[in-house]
Amino acid sequence: MGLLQEVAAHPLAEHFLGLGLGVQLAVVFGGVIVLSVILNVLSQILFKNPNEPPMVFHWFPFIGSTVTYGMDPPRFFKENRDKFGDTFTFILLGKKTTVAVGPAGNDFILNGKLKDVNAEEIYTVLTTPVFGKDVVYDCPNAKLMEQKKFMKIALTTEAFRSYVPIISGEVQSYFKKNADFKPKSGVIDLPKKMAEITIFTASHALQGSAVRSRFDETLAALYHDLDMGFTPINFMLHWAPLPWNRKRDHAQRTVASIYMDIIKDRRANGDAHEEHDMMKHLMNSTYKNGTPVPDHEVAHMMIALLMAGQHSSSSTSSWIMLRLAQNPEIMEELLQEQIRVLGADLPPLQYEDLAKLPLNQAIIKETLRIHAPIHSIMRAVKQPMPVPGTKYVIPPSHVLLAAPGVSASDPQYFPSPDTWDPHRWEVDSPNVPSIVRNGAVEEEEKIDYGYGLVSKGAGSPYLPFGAGRHRCIGEQFANVQLQTIVAETVRAFKFSNVDGSRNLIGTDYASLFSRPLEPAKIRYERRD
Ligand code: HEM
Repeated sequence: MGLLQEVAAHPLAEHFLGLGLGVQLAVVFGGVIVLSVILNVLSQILFKNPNEPPMVFHWFPFIGSTVTYGMDPPRFFKENRDKFGDTFTFILLGKKTTVAVGPAGNDFILNGKLKDVNAEEIYTVLTTPVFGKDVVYDCPNAKLMEQKKFMKIALTTEAFRSYVPIISGEVQSYFKKNADFKPKSGVIDLPKKMAEITIFTASHALQGSAVRSRFDETLAALYHDLDMGFTPINFMLHWAPLPWNRKRDHAQRTVASIYMDIIKDRRANGDAHEEHDMMKHLMNSTYKNGTPVPDHEVAHMMIALLMAGQHSSSSTSSWIMLRLAQNPEIMEELLQEQIRVLGADLPPLQYEDLAKLPLNQAIIKETLRIHAPIHSIMRAVKQPMPVPGTKYVIPPSHVLLAAPGVSASDPQYFPSPDTWDPHRWEVDSPNVPSIVRNGAVEEEEKIDYGYGLVSKGAGSPYLPFGAGRHRCIGEQFANVQLQTIVAETVRAFKFSNVDGSRNLIGTDYASLFSRPLEPAKIRYERRD
């Protein structure tokens, strides 16, 4: 009898062959899974490479630690840092992902050399269908550096001066017109309101009144559809003909053509009045090789700027207001600061006023320390990278992941790190961060990656705006926008938690940017 016949004649095999096809497939599939789990576990135990960082244990190949990481990235980083130290690797959707935390880890990844690390390879699948072609991660890094330079140059002090009254006006008019704020007091779902206020203020200031006026009708819905392309699942399914991707592509084409029509109109007819908006500046910018920035690139950069700023600023402003509802006495202190500095009649806010309101500024700093909207920053590795001070060499098959939030919540640098304490940024506070106590903030090394001098951030445990060639160019704008929104809001309202408690809602990590779970309701009372 041949071997096959012998196997087929075995009672177990006979039993298996007697099963229905569906059951047979399930048994085979289950067997393959069990076998792959065994091989996966054995390979982790038997084949440890001493020159690579330790691997977070996982049962299933491909899935690896994707679920535990995705549910709560900060907790995942903390637990594994406690176990392995500052550098470790985990499997994220089949990819070996090496995390390097702490100031040295931030520096290693974010200030990595162009020949070693690459951002566009990671992000382009997600961003290009949303922003459009030839900008940001759909072009060589040198071109992105030029584009960032154009954007940064547009954000002058003169521009900021003109933005503060625009932002103030938008916030006041929102509070006046929005039906939910009409009663003397009430309960609102905060993040939705802050998202609207953020997009109205940013679009008006950065993109001009012509664009802003379209946000009440068409643009808001189109940006919502664009947003649906910005989901983690699209790292894998960006190409798929799924309903949300179809909507994303339609929205991208429509928004870009709306911007291009506005650009054409502005070129043909000039502006009705002088505006210091970003669109106008980009329309008149020229690359180093003498090519003027084409209209489609201006349009795509406008989308990129609004999307980049929207998620981070909107999440931050929601957290600020939720923290104020949790700590109503700080909201009162903020109002008293304005009265003391600007006068009891609270005159219209000016750009210069913002620098005179240290607590108002500290609110943003402290909220970004605990609630930075970007918890993970990734880079593809292009060639073997030795990790300074260790025996590890990260091979090009890995992805690097920086998480500046880890050092921002490390008691070594921030006493009582889990306490939201805006007063900690004062030099004589018991919770003062080491970077303020040591004066390191002022002494940071500066570097120019092609878009102007930026602080290198090497050694800083506080980097909510990143570091290196991909550092945020929107930091100052975000600060002006958030400080103005906070100052206007404390003039208008008292906030508190609906149940009068000191609780705080949890964080939603399911989208790309972390933000408050929804609904996140608070009680307001108009000051009138
Ligand atoms: C990059 C944070 C607001 C435009 C970044 C990065 C971070 C960040 C961490 C680095 C990403 C990386 O290294 O991969 C924030 C936070 C904000 C904010 C916390 C608000 C609280 C804004 C605003 C704008 C903006 C308002 C636009 C006006 C950009 C751009 C980049 C960037 C263009 C560069 C991307 C690159 O070079 O790869 N931001 N951002 N951001 N941000 Fe922001």
